[in-house]
Order: sequence, then structure tokens, then C-alpha cells
Amino acid sequence: MTRRSLRLAVSLGTALALAALGGLAWLRRPRETAVMRGERLAWRLGCLGCHGPGGRGGVANPGSADLEIPAWEGGLHAGGEGEIREWILYGLPRRRWEGDVPPARAVEGAAQPAPPLAMPPYEGRLDEAELGDLVAYVAAVGQAVEALPEAARAGYLAASRLGCFGCHGPGGRGGASNPGSFKGYIPAWDGPDHGELVLDEGELRAWILDGRIPRLEANPVARYFMRRQALQMPAYGKSIEEDDLDALVVYIQYLRRR
Ligand code: HEC
Ligand code: HEC
Repeated sequence: MTRRSLRLAVSLGTALALAALGGLAWLRRPRETAVMRGERLAWRLGCLGCHGPGGRGGVANPGSADLEIPAWEGGLHAGGEGEIREWILYGLPRRRWEGDVPPARAVEGAAQPAPPLAMPPYEGRLDEAELGDLVAYVAAVGQAVEALPEAARAGYLAASRLGCFGCHGPGGRGGASNPGSFKGYIPAWDGPDHGELVLDEGELRAWILDGRIPRLEANPVARYFMRRQALQMPAYGKSIEEDDLDALVVYIQYLRRR
């Protein structure tokens, strides 16, 4: 080999290696869902200090009607996303006050003493995109089962009972972080990563039953990340009822179509 063609081969090799690394970085870019971003905001803004980890409640508020700060999980009082938005911005939904200015809460000398903890108004503390993400997260945690289409309910309940939401986030729409994984987090069922991980119903069932699928097992890069990630998709094959599996598939397919 001449010196010139050697140099050419080396620079070609370097270019190819760089392109491959660039391609891998592009594939690994995180594509989080609104619910994932909203969960991070809920921590950052202190929401979960009052509403409890995961919005599950349990924080005392002596003197309030329920003696606790309301949980979001299991259904909100707020009627829909518009009202969640108002709660966050003003600390009260619009229908609870008249005029243009939300009422100050601790009124000196009021007949009824206010409970020690009140919902703070966050207006001015987050931008429009953040507000949208936070509302999506609160709405996902506060999903009332009755509000789902009938066909999707059994799967939602099965996922909740089987512990799927602990890893895949509220309603399967978020995802815990996962050190060493390909994207850095556990994929949401309605997120953009699902399309790459699940091509058809056969693969969906295989994920749940075996915790893996043959297509990715055969791919050395995928296999590398799957082995080294801290949290693994569990294999539920031996511990799941046939009915629950069918219901989970229906629920996940419903989420994808929404
Ligand atoms: C200092 C404690 C505190 C913090 C922090 C807090 N909240 Fe609240 N929140 C409350 C209390 C108390 C209520 C109930 C108020 C009432 O019923 O008048 C409430 C009510 C709500 C409701 C209505 C609940 C329902 O069932 O409809 C929503 C939604 C809500 N908060 C969202 C949030 C979000 C999102 C954040 C963070 C941006 C947040 N809260 C931060 C105390 C807090
Ligand atoms: C311990 C955490 C954990 C639990 C619990 C868990 N998963 Fe997973 N799941 C994962 C991880 C991690 C992946 C990504 C797998 C990979 O890339 O190797 C995954 C991937 C998946 C996928 C394919 C990717 C996607 O987003 O669609 C499906 C479907 C899935 N899980 C369904 C379920 C169901 C249904 C349950 C409950 C019966 C469940 N998971 C419980 C961690 C978990």
C-alpha cells in the first residue's frame, strides 16, 4: 500500500467511525413525554412536598376539610385540564372567586381560621410550555378510571395492580430514570420510543411475558445497553393471568391511538 492510499484509508476509517458515533448519539437522544417532563417540574416546584411523592397524598393539613392535602392519584376534584391549570396559576380554580383578582387567603380576623397549608399561586414561576407539561403530569396521576373508555379500564387497573406504573410512570405515560440504559430512562408506553421497541402485538406480548424481545436480543448494541441498565423490564410470564395480559395489551394499544 502506498503512503497516500494508507492516509486515505485512515481518514476514511476515522470519518466512518465519527459518523457511526454521531448516529448513535442521535439515536440515544432523549425524547421524553410531557408527563416525564411534568414529573421533574413537580419535584422542582415543590408540588410533591405537599401532594406527596407521586402525587399520592398523605401530607397532613390539620383544620382542612379532609385533614390532609388532597392526593391527585385516584381522581381530582378539578374538572379537567383547564381547571388544573387554574389551580396551578392562581392557587384556586376560577369558579371559586369573583372579579379579576384571586382572593388573598389568610384573611386577618376571618371567622374561619385558614388551614396551615394552602395551595400557592405559581403564576410567573413557570412558562407556558412548562405549565402544559405540569398539567399533563397532574392529569395523568389524577386519571379517574371511570373517565377511561370502558375497554381500556381493565388494563389500566391491571397495570396499576401489577406495579407497572411504578417504573413506567402514571398511566404508563412517564418513566423512571434508568442509569446505563440506552436513553437514560424507562420508556413511556405512549412515547416516541415505543415505536422502536414494539413493532407489533407479538412483540408487545413478548416484552410483558419475557421482559425482552428476540429482535433486540439479536442486535449487539441493543443487547449491550439492555444488559448494563440498572432497571430491567421484568418477565411476567409465570406470574400473570391470561386475562390481565389481554387487558394490558388493549390498554397500551388504546394509549397509542389517543
Ligand atoms: C404548600 C403546599 C402546596 C404546594 C407546594 C402545592 N400545593 Fe396544590 N394544593 C395544596 C392544598 C392545601 C390544596 C387544596 C386547596 C383547597 O382545597 O382549597 C391544593 C390543591 C391542588 C389541586 C386541586 C386538587 C384537586 O383534587 O382538584 C391541584 C391540581 C394542585 N393543588 C396542584 C399543585 C401543583 C401542580 C403544585 C406545584 C406546582 C402544587 N399543587 C403545589 C397545597 C399545595
Ligand atoms: C422494574 C421496572 C419495570 C417494571 C415494574 C415494568 N417495566 Fe416494562 N420496561 C422496563 C424497562 C427498563 C424497559 C425497557 C427495556 C429495555 O430497553 O431493555 C421496559 C419496557 C417495556 C415495554 C416495551 C417498551 C415500551 O415502552 O412499550 C413494555 C410494553 C413494557 N415494558 C410493559 C410493562 C408492563 C405491562 C408492566 C407491568 C406488568 C411493566 N412493563 C413493568 C421496566 C419495567
